[in-house]
Amino acid sequence: MTPEEFRTAAHALVDWIADHRERIPQLPVAARVAPGEVAAGLAEHAPEAPEPLEDVLKDLEQVVVPGITQVQSPHFYGWFPSNASLASVLGDMASSGLGALGITWQSAPAATEVEEVVVEWMRELTGLPAGWRGAIQDTASTGALVAMLAARERSSGYSGASGGLQAQDAPLVVYASPHAHSSIAKAVALAGFGAGNLRLVDVDPITYAMRSDALAAAMDADRAAGLRPAAVVVSVGTTGTTAIDPLAEIVPIAQRFGAWVHVDAAMAGSALLLPEMRHLVDGIDGADSLGWNPHKWMGTILDCSLLYVRDPEHLVRVMSTNPSYLRSAVDGEVTQYKDWGIPLGRRFRALKLWFHLRLDGVEAVRARLRRDLANARWLAEQVEAEPGWRVLAPVSLQTVCLRHEPEGLGGEDLDAHTLAWAAAVNDSGRAFVTPSVLDGRWMVRVSVGAEPTEREDVAALWQLLRETAVLAPSSTGA
Ligand SMILES: Cc1ncc(COP(=O)(O)O)c(C=O)c1O
Repeated sequence: MTPEEFRTAAHALVDWIADHRERIPQLPVAARVAPGEVAAGLAEHAPEAPEPLEDVLKDLEQVVVPGITQVQSPHFYGWFPSNASLASVLGDMASSGLGALGITWQSAPAATEVEEVVVEWMRELTGLPAGWRGAIQDTASTGALVAMLAARERSSGYSGASGGLQAQDAPLVVYASPHAHSSIAKAVALAGFGAGNLRLVDVDPITYAMRSDALAAAMDADRAAGLRPAAVVVSVGTTGTTAIDPLAEIVPIAQRFGAWVHVDAAMAGSALLLPEMRHLVDGIDGADSLGWNPHKWMGTILDCSLLYVRDPEHLVRVMSTNPSYLRSAVDGEVTQYKDWGIPLGRRFRALKLWFHLRLDGVEAVRARLRRDLANARWLAEQVEAEPGWRVLAPVSLQTVCLRHEPEGLGGEDLDAHTLAWAAAVNDSGRAFVTPSVLDGRWMVRVSVGAEPTEREDVAALWQLLRETAVLAPSSTGA
């Protein structure tokens, strides 16, 4: 494709994207395809000869779009928001168009330095401690793995450079809430601690936040048994209920054991853009790392996750490699992001954040976040005021955990009812919510915060939930 051909095709594609975004509110929210249906709509073999763009766009429209759950819809309340602001989409396009190779500072000095500047802007905007430095990772899962590797190496005296964990005289233990995201258990296992050395610490039965007294007791018991407490993962905004583990209480406990403190704020990090929400990370000065996803609520298109550390030198020591073909005369003066994470080749992700901040402006993002917090509070008030309905966890951010509890219905019948009405809501195409288990029973998470969702959309959702739950099988005895 020549640049001229690209110009024509790209204009057509941008028109298609703009049209698509405009019609998203009218599309069914949940993907309506059976397993294998999308694949069956595609050619069996790759084309030998070029095809016209119109044919590709036709398939995009007819085969691909129905196979996508429309998370950019104002009626999307599933999982967590995964906003893809169009300003950030432009940055993503610019990144692709530049075709830069991010392997060392030398391979694209701008890719490194734009990232340094934007990551520092974000540190300032979220009130994280001066002196902390960060890098853009693909996801919070990768960020957690990097943090666990850094924790392992600090606790084991850089064992990775010698016999690894196999040469340690005592097992290293990691602590987290049972409500921590599944990526934490995965990171602990992948970093070699072993799933058996992940302690799930008791939580408060009302707030679902980690109990710091239980943490202290678990760490003491492990040390008395000859184990070595190595890290505590503090969930600020758990996936199930957005529970906030008490960082300020946890930090001094972890410090007594020299344990690394990683804060997983994948979702809640966006809230730190609001000065009034910074209390969520009180105590952060004493932590070691924090990861969060602009690609969730804030709306910088996937993938864009920030990982900050208090001691960048330690991280670089753990992550660095130095083969001859990557060396340059400026190595001592520049940041080499290959030494801040796992991959060598890195995309120019900073551009999407840079475009997002510059074209939308931070004030508009803050206004949207405040709107969503208020909408979630409003919904929780409606639910609490409605007989037969219950809010099941504190609404600390923008997610409301709720259940319709018709009189006389409990146990598995209540579960069946919950799953039936949640499925009916999702099948209607008019909204999308996520059922999830809390305290052994199904409930429904309504995660407010899609970019276009306004109060009237949330009011329409509440109407839909009530109508649907009343008709759902178990409540009628059917
Ligand atoms: C609290 C929390 N941590 C981590 C993750 C993983 O995020 P990612 O998809 O960026 O790996 C999620 C995803 O929803 C999350 O909610």
